[in-house]
Amino acid sequence: MNVIEALNWRYAVREFSPERINDQRIQELLTATRLSATSYGLQPYRMIVVDDVETRKKLLPYSFGQQKVVSCSHLVVFVAQRQLGDEMVDRYIHSIADTRSITVDELKGLADHMKSVFADMNGEQKREWAHQQVYIALGTMLTAAAMMQIDSCPMGGIEAAGYDEVLGLNELDLETSVICALGVRHPDDQNAKLKKVRYDQTEMVIAL
Ligand SMILES: Cc1cc2nc3c(=O)[nH]c(=O)nc-3n(C[C@H](O)[C@H](O)[C@H](O)COP(=O)(O)O)c2cc1C
Repeated sequence: MNVIEALNWRYAVREFSPERINDQRIQELLTATRLSATSYGLQPYRMIVVDDVETRKKLLPYSFGQQKVVSCSHLVVFVAQRQLGDEMVDRYIHSIADTRSITVDELKGLADHMKSVFADMNGEQKREWAHQQVYIALGTMLTAAAMMQIDSCPMGGIEAAGYDEVLGLNELDLETSVICALGVRHPDDQNAKLKKVRYDQTEMVIAL
Protein backbone atom coordinates (compact mmCIF):
# COMPACT_ATOMS: atom_id res chain seq x y z
CA MET A 1 0.00 0.00 0.00
CA ASN A 2 1.52 3.35 -0.98
CA VAL A 3 1.14 6.44 1.16
CA ILE A 4 -1.91 7.80 -0.73
CA GLU A 5 -3.66 4.44 -0.52
CA ALA A 6 -2.85 4.23 3.19
CA LEU A 7 -4.21 7.72 3.87
CA ASN A 8 -7.38 6.91 1.93
CA TRP A 9 -7.72 3.69 3.93
CA ARG A 10 -7.39 5.65 7.19
CA TYR A 11 -10.48 7.28 8.64
CA ALA A 12 -11.51 8.50 12.07
CA VAL A 13 -12.87 5.30 13.58
CA ARG A 14 -16.18 5.66 15.37
CA GLU A 15 -16.45 2.11 16.69
CA PHE A 16 -13.61 -0.27 17.48
CA SER A 17 -13.81 -4.08 17.53
CA PRO A 18 -12.66 -5.80 20.77
CA GLU A 19 -9.56 -7.09 18.96
CA ARG A 20 -6.25 -6.19 20.61
CA ILE A 21 -3.31 -5.01 18.55
CA ASN A 22 0.00 -6.71 19.19
CA ASP A 23 2.01 -4.64 21.70
CA GLN A 24 5.13 -4.87 19.54
CA ARG A 25 3.35 -3.16 16.65
CA ILE A 26 2.17 -0.43 19.00
CA GLN A 27 5.74 0.05 20.23
CA GLU A 28 6.83 0.42 16.61
CA LEU A 29 4.13 3.01 16.06
CA LEU A 30 5.24 4.89 19.20
CA THR A 31 8.80 4.83 17.89
CA ALA A 32 7.65 6.31 14.58
CA THR A 33 5.82 9.02 16.51
CA ARG A 34 8.82 9.71 18.76
CA LEU A 35 10.82 10.41 15.59
CA SER A 36 8.48 13.27 14.83
CA ALA A 37 9.90 16.74 14.18
CA THR A 38 9.64 19.37 16.92
CA SER A 39 10.71 22.98 17.08
CA TYR A 40 14.51 23.02 17.76
CA GLY A 41 14.09 19.30 18.50
CA LEU A 42 13.03 20.05 22.08
CA GLN A 43 10.32 17.34 22.26
CA PRO A 44 8.19 19.04 24.92
CA TYR A 45 5.62 16.26 25.03
CA ARG A 46 5.12 12.72 26.25
CA MET A 47 2.78 9.90 25.22
CA ILE A 48 0.90 8.04 27.93
CA VAL A 49 -0.41 4.63 26.91
CA VAL A 50 -3.38 3.92 29.13
CA ASP A 51 -3.80 0.16 29.31
CA ASP A 52 -5.72 -0.15 32.54
CA VAL A 53 -9.45 -0.48 31.81
CA GLU A 54 -10.47 1.00 35.17
CA THR A 55 -8.45 4.13 34.42
CA ARG A 56 -10.02 4.36 30.98
CA LYS A 57 -13.48 4.12 32.56
CA LYS A 58 -12.54 7.03 34.81
CA LEU A 59 -11.60 9.02 31.68
CA LEU A 60 -14.95 8.36 30.01
CA PRO A 61 -16.87 11.12 31.86
CA TYR A 62 -14.28 13.56 30.50
CA SER A 63 -14.59 12.26 26.92
CA PHE A 64 -18.09 13.49 26.03
CA GLY A 65 -19.40 9.94 26.16
CA GLN A 66 -17.05 8.65 23.47
CA GLN A 67 -17.01 4.96 24.39
CA LYS A 68 -14.05 4.23 22.16
CA VAL A 69 -11.83 5.60 24.94
CA VAL A 70 -12.64 2.32 26.72
CA SER A 71 -13.23 -0.01 23.77
CA CYS A 72 -10.15 0.73 21.65
CA SER A 73 -7.13 -1.54 21.81
CA HIS A 74 -4.62 1.11 22.93
CA LEU A 75 -5.35 4.61 24.15
CA VAL A 76 -2.59 7.18 23.77
CA VAL A 77 -2.85 10.44 25.69
CA PHE A 78 -0.53 13.12 24.31
CA VAL A 79 0.59 15.44 27.08
CA ALA A 80 2.57 18.68 26.92
CA GLN A 81 5.29 19.73 29.35
CA ARG A 82 4.45 22.74 31.48
CA GLN A 83 7.94 23.81 32.49
CA LEU A 84 9.33 25.41 29.36
CA GLY A 85 12.46 27.34 30.17
CA ASP A 86 16.17 27.10 30.91
CA GLU A 87 15.96 23.67 32.52
CA MET A 88 14.31 22.15 29.44
CA VAL A 89 16.94 23.75 27.19
CA ASP A 90 19.87 22.59 29.36
CA ARG A 91 18.61 19.03 29.41
CA TYR A 92 18.33 19.03 25.61
CA ILE A 93 21.76 20.58 25.16
CA HIS A 94 23.28 17.82 27.28
CA SER A 95 21.43 15.25 25.21
CA ILE A 96 22.83 16.70 21.96
CA ALA A 97 26.32 16.78 23.46
CA ASP A 98 26.10 13.14 24.57
CA THR A 99 24.56 11.91 21.34
CA ARG A 100 26.92 13.73 18.99
CA SER A 101 30.04 13.58 21.18
CA ILE A 102 30.55 17.31 21.39
CA THR A 103 31.01 19.58 24.38
CA VAL A 104 28.31 21.63 26.04
CA ASP A 105 30.55 24.67 25.54
CA GLU A 106 30.36 24.23 21.78
CA LEU A 107 26.58 24.43 22.06
CA LYS A 108 26.52 27.58 24.19
CA GLY A 109 25.36 29.78 21.28
CA LEU A 110 22.43 27.47 20.56
CA ALA A 111 21.57 27.21 24.26
CA ASP A 112 21.59 30.99 24.74
CA HIS A 113 19.48 31.48 21.63
CA MET A 114 16.83 28.98 22.73
CA LYS A 115 16.76 30.39 26.25
CA SER A 116 16.23 33.91 24.94
CA VAL A 117 13.40 32.73 22.67
CA PHE A 118 11.55 31.23 25.65
CA ALA A 119 12.37 34.17 27.90
CA ASP A 120 10.59 36.42 25.38
CA MET A 121 7.40 34.33 25.45
CA ASN A 122 4.66 34.76 28.02
CA GLY A 123 3.08 31.75 29.72
CA GLU A 124 0.27 31.43 27.20
CA GLN A 125 2.63 31.61 24.22
CA LYS A 126 4.82 28.89 25.71
CA ARG A 127 1.79 26.73 26.30
CA GLU A 128 0.59 27.22 22.74
CA TRP A 129 4.06 26.38 21.44
CA ALA A 130 4.15 23.10 23.39
CA HIS A 131 0.70 22.08 22.20
CA GLN A 132 1.67 22.82 18.59
CA GLN A 133 4.51 20.32 18.93
CA VAL A 134 2.06 17.74 20.28
CA TYR A 135 -0.14 18.12 17.22
CA ILE A 136 2.80 17.52 14.88
CA ALA A 137 3.43 14.26 16.76
CA LEU A 138 -0.26 13.38 16.50
CA GLY A 139 -0.07 13.88 12.71
CA THR A 140 2.98 11.63 12.56
CA MET A 141 1.14 8.98 14.54
CA LEU A 142 -1.92 9.07 12.28
CA THR A 143 0.17 8.77 9.13
CA ALA A 144 2.44 6.06 10.53
CA ALA A 145 -0.57 4.13 11.82
CA ALA A 146 -2.16 4.27 8.37
CA MET A 147 1.04 2.98 6.80
CA MET A 148 1.07 0.14 9.35
CA GLN A 149 -2.63 -0.62 8.80
CA ILE A 150 -3.46 0.24 12.39
CA ASP A 151 -6.82 1.95 12.78
CA SER A 152 -7.02 5.16 14.75
CA CYS A 153 -9.13 8.06 15.87
CA PRO A 154 -7.61 11.38 16.92
CA MET A 155 -9.74 12.94 19.64
CA GLY A 156 -9.82 16.51 20.80
CA GLY A 157 -13.31 16.12 22.23
CA ILE A 158 -12.16 15.69 25.80
CA GLU A 159 -12.01 17.74 28.97
CA ALA A 160 -8.28 18.08 29.42
CA ALA A 161 -8.49 19.14 33.08
CA GLY A 162 -10.40 15.93 33.90
CA TYR A 163 -7.75 13.84 32.16
CA ASP A 164 -5.03 15.69 34.10
CA GLU A 165 -6.80 14.86 37.34
CA VAL A 166 -7.40 11.16 36.59
CA LEU A 167 -3.86 10.61 35.31
CA GLY A 168 -2.21 12.61 38.10
CA LEU A 169 -0.50 14.92 35.62
CA ASN A 170 -0.46 18.05 37.77
CA GLU A 171 2.20 16.52 40.01
CA LEU A 172 4.28 15.68 36.94
CA ASP A 173 4.11 19.18 35.43
CA LEU A 174 2.37 17.77 32.38
CA GLU A 175 -1.01 18.63 30.85
CA THR A 176 -3.29 16.79 28.47
CA SER A 177 -3.38 18.01 24.92
CA VAL A 178 -5.12 15.50 22.66
CA ILE A 179 -5.65 11.74 22.58
CA CYS A 180 -5.48 9.03 19.96
CA ALA A 181 -7.44 5.80 20.12
CA LEU A 182 -5.81 2.88 18.30
CA GLY A 183 -7.26 -0.48 17.39
CA VAL A 184 -9.19 -2.37 14.75
CA ARG A 185 -12.28 -0.92 13.09
CA HIS A 186 -15.53 -2.70 14.00
CA PRO A 187 -17.15 -4.43 10.99
CA ASP A 188 -20.35 -2.49 11.74
CA ASP A 189 -18.66 0.93 11.83
CA GLN A 190 -20.64 2.91 9.27
CA ASN A 191 -17.97 5.60 9.11
CA ALA A 192 -15.69 3.15 7.31
CA LYS A 193 -18.01 3.27 4.30
CA LEU A 194 -18.20 7.05 4.05
CA LYS A 195 -16.43 8.72 1.15
CA LYS A 196 -13.67 11.09 2.16
CA VAL A 197 -14.59 14.76 2.04
CA ARG A 198 -11.58 16.78 0.97
CA TYR A 199 -11.34 19.94 -1.11
CA ASP A 200 -9.71 19.70 -4.51
CA GLN A 201 -5.97 19.89 -4.93
CA THR A 202 -6.46 22.99 -7.12
CA GLU A 203 -8.08 24.76 -4.17
CA MET A 204 -5.81 23.43 -1.45
CA VAL A 205 -2.53 24.00 -3.23
CA ILE A 206 -1.77 27.56 -4.18
CA ALA A 207 1.01 28.03 -6.67
CA LEU A 208 2.52 31.50 -6.76
C1 LIG B 1 -7.40 17.43 16.38
C2 LIG B 1 -8.54 16.52 16.03
C3 LIG B 1 -9.51 16.26 16.96
C4 LIG B 1 -10.54 15.35 16.66
N1 LIG B 1 -11.45 15.02 17.64
C5 LIG B 1 -12.33 14.02 17.41
C6 LIG B 1 -13.15 13.54 18.45
O1 LIG B 1 -13.12 13.99 19.58
N2 LIG B 1 -13.98 12.48 18.16
C7 LIG B 1 -14.05 11.92 16.92
O2 LIG B 1 -14.81 10.97 16.73
N3 LIG B 1 -13.29 12.38 15.91
C8 LIG B 1 -12.42 13.39 16.11
N4 LIG B 1 -11.60 13.82 15.10
C9 LIG B 1 -11.69 13.20 13.77
C10 LIG B 1 -12.25 14.14 12.72
O3 LIG B 1 -13.61 14.40 12.95
C11 LIG B 1 -12.02 13.54 11.34
O4 LIG B 1 -10.62 13.40 11.15
C12 LIG B 1 -12.61 14.36 10.21
O5 LIG B 1 -14.01 14.36 10.30
C13 LIG B 1 -12.20 13.87 8.84
O6 LIG B 1 -12.58 12.55 8.67
P1 LIG B 1 -11.54 11.36 8.36
O7 LIG B 1 -10.39 11.55 9.30
O8 LIG B 1 -12.32 10.12 8.65
O9 LIG B 1 -11.11 11.47 6.96
C14 LIG B 1 -10.60 14.74 15.38
C15 LIG B 1 -9.61 15.04 14.44
C16 LIG B 1 -8.58 15.89 14.76
C17 LIG B 1 -7.49 16.13 13.74
